Amino acid sequence: MIGVFDSGHGGLTVLRALHQSLPAHDFLYLGDHADAPYGDRPPEEIYHLTLAGMSRLFERGARLIIVACNTASAVALRRLQQTWLDHAWPGRRVLGVLVPMVEAVTGVPWMADVAASRQAGEARTIGIFATSRTVDSGAYPREIAARAPEVRVVQQACPELVPLIEHDASRIQLEDAVRRYVDGLMIQLDGVVPQAVMLGCTHYPLVADLFIANLPAGVEVLSQPDLTAKSLRAYLDRHPEFDQPGRGEVKFITTGDADRITTLATRFFGKPARFERV
Ligand code: DGL
Repeated sequence: MIGVFDSGHGGLTVLRALHQSLPAHDFLYLGDHADAPYGDRPPEEIYHLTLAGMSRLFERGARLIIVACNTASAVALRRLQQTWLDHAWPGRRVLGVLVPMVEAVTGVPWMADVAASRQAGEARTIGIFATSRTVDSGAYPREIAARAPEVRVVQQACPELVPLIEHDASRIQLEDAVRRYVDGLMIQLDGVVPQAVMLGCTHYPLVADLFIANLPAGVEVLSQPDLTAKSLRAYLDRHPEFDQPGRGEVKFITTGDADRITTLATRFFGKPARFERV
């Protein structure tokens, strides 16, 4: 069984793509709704909350976990992998959503010996929309620069977007917020039109159409759920010990109010997602 973790139900946009790509695998999704949102929390708190989420999923039998939350992936994942995972849960693995995006933007595999193998690519400009904490972590620009320094990365924090989506804001309110953030990015870019933007937050695929409508024509909007699904498929091909199809079951657990979340979550997952409280 593959565990999928998010601060809330935004990660269901990622789970949906994973389930479509691996329909025979079993998934257990954990949303830490009691502590969401993570996007403005101090990094130390995000680390400990993510660690607690990993433990819950491992205790329930997950051998491989996808952290489907950009904030947790950017702020906590590397530290968990380097200082905790191997001694706490030997043989288990945790992957995030940052790596597939960085690989897609740079065209460089994560583990490649960049210094030995890379050829400078074409200069490009990439915009990133994300939560404040993901932006502050600097993880995306740092990892992209390490692999493709010719890519200019400009980040725009969108602090109002998650709360608006969570509270079922109207399309007018959402479009107003998206337009302001797109304008913020374009001001930083001083009129340069980026080749592509990434929606570096689980919730933003739900308003991808509003980003597309407000960005200059021709800007590619990278789909994190699809890229994560593709990357997981490739990971399982390289690591068959984690490639264990089951009965195609998907279960949902939460630290929050299961009934309230079940109603909201259906929108993110695209079909009914019945949550149980842990
Ligand atoms: N899941 C978070 C992310 O992708 C967004 C929601 C939150 O702030 O907790 O960054």
